[in-house]
Amino acid sequence: MSDMRIDSIGRRDFLGRVGRLSLGAAVAGGLSASPGQAGQEQKNWEPVSERKVRMGIVGYGVCQFGAAFGFQDHPNVEIVAVSDLIADRREGLMKACRCDKSYESLEVLVKDKSIEAVFVATDAPSHARHCIEVMKHGKHVMTAVPATFGSLEDAQKLVETVRQTGLKYQMAETSCFREDCYAMRRVYHAGGFGRIIYSEGEYFHYSATPIPSFNGWRVGSPPLWYPTHSTAYYIGVTGKRYTSVSCRGFDVGLDSNKPGANKYNNPFSDEVALFETTEGGSSRMLMCKGIYGMVIETGRVYGEKGWMEQTKYSGTMKNLPDIARPPLPPGMFAGGHGGSHGPLANEFITAILEDREPMVNVYEALAMTVPGIIAHKSAIKDGETLEIPQYDPPKLA
Ligand SMILES: NC(=O)c1ccc[n+]([C@@H]2O[C@H](COP(=O)([O-])OP(=O)(O)OC[C@H]3O[C@@H](n4cnc5c(N)ncnc54)[C@H](O)[C@@H]3O)[C@@H](O)[C@H]2O)c1
Repeated sequence: MSDMRIDSIGRRDFLGRVGRLSLGAAVAGGLSASPGQAGQEQKNWEPVSERKVRMGIVGYGVCQFGAAFGFQDHPNVEIVAVSDLIADRREGLMKACRCDKSYESLEVLVKDKSIEAVFVATDAPSHARHCIEVMKHGKHVMTAVPATFGSLEDAQKLVETVRQTGLKYQMAETSCFREDCYAMRRVYHAGGFGRIIYSEGEYFHYSATPIPSFNGWRVGSPPLWYPTHSTAYYIGVTGKRYTSVSCRGFDVGLDSNKPGANKYNNPFSDEVALFETTEGGSSRMLMCKGIYGMVIETGRVYGEKGWMEQTKYSGTMKNLPDIARPPLPPGMFAGGHGGSHGPLANEFITAILEDREPMVNVYEALAMTVPGIIAHKSAIKDGETLEIPQYDPPKLA
């Protein structure tokens, strides 16, 4: 929900810092240097098409997320209609999206045949059901995180719907387009880390007063049912998978975690999980609400050939890849959560226009989401090691 401390290293500061380093600055011999010097010059956005994707936007809750990703400012988008169940939120979303049409619910909006893609920014427990409803009506979908909220059954239904419809599905995991996580992904795929021996990701979200939510879905919810800001720092970097988990829960004594106080029967305010990875490494991912004052989303990766903290690479790779995030269209803002909102919207629209898979497709989305559901089960069983179900694309014959 809120931006993390690393946001204080703003894009301009970062570019300035990188610009001041000379190209030959020492990456060799394991010395540290900020990566990507060769590719850090600002690139210009090039349209891939003149076409406008006709979109519907749903959900203008506490975070006002429907309007936060800037679809309304993208030159390849026309916002056809918006929706929220609550009338004044619907009005607010119409205004924010500069759109004069609205429907009373997502279920009605999806019947509008002129809409070809929908951004689902509704409450987390409804994401999977809403995305399935959108795709069943023949429309592409981008969803706010998580892909599914505690339900493995929903995960299965979601992946089946994507396979059956062949439509684009993207989860808007903001960490994936944060400067550091995006840079790690680029360096990983260029071979700068080798296998990741250890990775760690954190989503700390302390709040002195409970955060409101539609039908109270946030009240006492299991921390690692909301894992993706953390798990992005391994799954989003490598595209590899978690195979098993052992997780510990902690209770700081929040009223919402007392017996009978929440609909999830969840006693924990904090969960810390250790995952085994398909590379044979370990990954420590957490979601904590109980640590006083902490509101941070970040992570790090450590591999056999190098490691990265924030955007600082140390390792054996001499010629680092371009780590800059793709440029945005003029007039479109990078936005919140470390400047990830604009790039996520742009990625979704560009994937539709180019008829390709979006970066965080359903398989990556479930690989970031489902391990958290299993981690919570492990925490309830006092840390028992549990296997993680896999959702991989069908193999080509
Ligand atoms: N960094 C991030 O990626 C990040 C940050 C904040 C929130 N989120 C996610 O964004 C989503 C929205 O967050 P929020 O706090 O605004 O949620 P919220 O619970 O406050 O609001 C959800 C809204 O969805 C609307 N809605 C529900 N069902 C609907 C339907 N069938 N048709 C039309 N509208 C419907 C509700 O009326 C409500 O206004 C959440 O799922 C949350 O997990 C992600």
